[in-house]
Amino acid sequence: MQNSRQLIAVMAGALVLAAVPGPALGEPPGGDDVRDRFTGQRSPVPRVPARPDGQAYRASGTDWDRSAAVERRVNTLLDQMTDAEKADLATGELNNNFGFYNNPIPRLGIPAQTMADGPVGVRVADPGVDKRTTQLPAGSALAATYDDRLAQRYGRLIGVEALHTGHNVSLAPSADIARTPLWGRAFEGFGEDPLLVGRLAGEVVRGIQASPVLATAKHPFAYNQETDRFNVDVQVAERALQEVYLRPFGILQRLGRPGSMMCSFNRLGGTYACENAALTTLLKDQLRFRGFVMSDYNATPSTVQAANAGLDQEQPGDQGPGSANFGQRLLDAVAAGQVSRARLTDMARRILRPMVGLGLFDRHPDNAGFATARHRALARRVAARGMVLLQNRRDALPLTGRARSIAVLGPDADNTSAQGGGSSAVTVPTASVSPLAGIRDRAGSRARVRYQPGTDGINEGDMLPGPAPLPASMLAPAAGSTAEGLQARYWSNLDRSGTPARSVVDPNVNVNFGFQTFPGFNVASPKIPTPVGQFALFGDLSAEWTGVMTAPGTGTIGLGLTARGDARLYVDGALVVEHTGALSSTSAPLDLVAGRTYDIRVEYAAPAKNSYQGGQIRLFWTHPDSMLAPKMAQAVRTADRARVAVVVVRDYETEGYDRPHLRLPKEQDLLIRTVAAVNPRTVVVVETGAATVVRPWRRQVEGIVQAWYPGQEQGRAIADVLWGDVNPSGHLPATVPRRESQVPGTPEGVASYTEGVNVGYRGYLATGERPEFPFGHGLSYTRFRYDDLRVRAAANGRGAVARFRVTNVGDRTGTAVPQVYVGRLPTPVTTPRRQLAGYDTVRLAPGRSRTVKVRIGRESVSSWDAAADAWVTPRGRVRVFVGKDVTATLSRPVRIG
Ligand code: BGC
Repeated sequence: MQNSRQLIAVMAGALVLAAVPGPALGEPPGGDDVRDRFTGQRSPVPRVPARPDGQAYRASGTDWDRSAAVERRVNTLLDQMTDAEKADLATGELNNNFGFYNNPIPRLGIPAQTMADGPVGVRVADPGVDKRTTQLPAGSALAATYDDRLAQRYGRLIGVEALHTGHNVSLAPSADIARTPLWGRAFEGFGEDPLLVGRLAGEVVRGIQASPVLATAKHPFAYNQETDRFNVDVQVAERALQEVYLRPFGILQRLGRPGSMMCSFNRLGGTYACENAALTTLLKDQLRFRGFVMSDYNATPSTVQAANAGLDQEQPGDQGPGSANFGQRLLDAVAAGQVSRARLTDMARRILRPMVGLGLFDRHPDNAGFATARHRALARRVAARGMVLLQNRRDALPLTGRARSIAVLGPDADNTSAQGGGSSAVTVPTASVSPLAGIRDRAGSRARVRYQPGTDGINEGDMLPGPAPLPASMLAPAAGSTAEGLQARYWSNLDRSGTPARSVVDPNVNVNFGFQTFPGFNVASPKIPTPVGQFALFGDLSAEWTGVMTAPGTGTIGLGLTARGDARLYVDGALVVEHTGALSSTSAPLDLVAGRTYDIRVEYAAPAKNSYQGGQIRLFWTHPDSMLAPKMAQAVRTADRARVAVVVVRDYETEGYDRPHLRLPKEQDLLIRTVAAVNPRTVVVVETGAATVVRPWRRQVEGIVQAWYPGQEQGRAIADVLWGDVNPSGHLPATVPRRESQVPGTPEGVASYTEGVNVGYRGYLATGERPEFPFGHGLSYTRFRYDDLRVRAAANGRGAVARFRVTNVGDRTGTAVPQVYVGRLPTPVTTPRRQLAGYDTVRLAPGRSRTVKVRIGRESVSSWDAAADAWVTPRGRVRVFVGKDVTATLSRPVRIG
């Protein structure tokens, strides 16, 4: 596997260019109506503008791959193409203005492929154009809506924005299963259930391809962790591969027919995904995918094997000066008879087919701009609809008259940095409304809204394991200084020699350099100075931090280092902690006397771990709960004086790094507990991309809103839900665990998926473990009753149809999300006790009922038979359950098969 530093450096260069400043927080660009309040009405979907000749663009998003006319046009092109031109189509051309890029062939009128990430909005890399796009709520937020139509509109927005920011290929959506909430990229996808993931991803594909823009479904196969992602070998039984990991791609292929799919970095059963015969046997033969498979970034491990396995396009291009690129190697392999000419032609055919069929020849991308205000409204709508009301004790929500005095707390509640990091990050949004701004605006001028962060802003250092960083409010760069933090100096060598590459006051010692610090990929709090430069990526690093610590109380604390490499901590000139070697934590006790200051000095040196991971060090503390850092104590005082406390917490999740644990970083768990101890009306808004362990404080707070990463309009959407302007209807697309031990880890080397098909809620049901909140859970400000369930076998005998009545028995209009599960199947193999088989969304006024019909497809009553190499539907009785989450009790049997 080649992941040379050189390539990464080029990639980083592109991202540096991508990092131009966006509009100031809270300030929308001119002309937009930021006061537009979400009404609950469906707002119009932006359309692709009409063609200049007045004809409609192809809206053939789902039939391009079966069209004789498309095939004729592709054949005409192929007849005129040389082998070299075909190989060129199969080869990316490293171009920093795009995510990926493929040369045009002007002689034949074949346009360039200009590609843009990604699944949560269009990331514009081209420095020459207006980079502002809509930063959408994360995939997990969309998933929580359980709303196929909304997913299609989300996709349409991506397609339109891609087209009008110069792109004709979208590197979206992600249809990877959130096997574990520890996965750093779980936020990009649609949760842990294959049916939900497949359906939503399929709708996003349809939406994107309503514009002349190809969608890219990513990333087969079984890409479910960042740890060791370039090498990890996923060992998964065939049945689990089919029923859990491939099934979403099958569903989205049937629904949306994406123009391309992107194979993943990891290995599957010993063979890298992008040179794995499964590209042909599973994607092309079994799923009848007729577009092209492109590789992920530098994920092509070979030429002959990859081409023969079914890879159609290598990305991102040239392997560097002097070495032949993929296209040249491919031509050589064809000449040597190692790859057939027919395969080369097939690669070109598969690339051209969706380009022709989806209108890329007829309509070229431009930089004409898009309907910013309407897109903002959709971002807000998805964010609000995706919020899951996990808990609402004593009807703490919605906020009413007592909302006259509100304490807003949380490290980044005054900005919108809470989003997922990596290639999907949209860091130049068209506008942004922070939780604080949204709450202030909704509370109105007569309310008193006070903000205190409580802890330091969240950054990539918070993904290191171990206790929380020593807070800035206890630190000063020099005795007598009013600044907070320590004086830092960084060098790009191992011995702190020469002029430092950077001198800055760091709020904490909390460094985790590497892929996640690339500008444009990094989603740290704006309160943390962003380290830019080679030293902050990878390579040799040495550093020192100096200053003083003031004791906030009298008592014993632990002071320590979590580090990879050589690290030393001196207190008042004495060496108290020394660390060498692999990433781990070491500490020493220290008796503090309130108000006394202590000299602090930290020294650090480490070579890069690899081309994706640089320096890692944290100075941490452990302390009695009674000894709070000044910033947290201030937040607690503010909460004490308010009628209501809203604590907005976040974590750091990113491509390139898995979460070290499922708790909140930087002592936000403690912040919640201490706030709740003084303010009984405490509501927590959780901004995390995947499930978080809430057990440490759940019983102490009244309300919990799982907001995911809610995108640029997050402040409005949070206010919509807190005040009940939007009655919450989000439901969990993934189980919230009670403890970390309930979820799979993310090992290096080999990842054995020993749980088989029992992923997510299927696993909890199999083991009898109790989660904190079950899959599908989500409260509303009203209540729904489900009854009158009737289930019959489908006419063709291959599925079933469930009909039931949903009634709003509360006193507010709201949206129910009825879920239909099938029980154990009468198969020789043991199938999960329940599996999601369908769902719908039903908006009902108080007292109103509606009969809902949900089809249960054939796959939902089948299991994969490895011997037959097919889905097999058993004969016999199956129980169908209907309700508001996976614990549904309303049920009826039905005969199938
Ligand atoms: C990611 C892909 C992404 C690509 C291009 C890779 O690091 O895994 O999802 O589309 O980069 O930016």
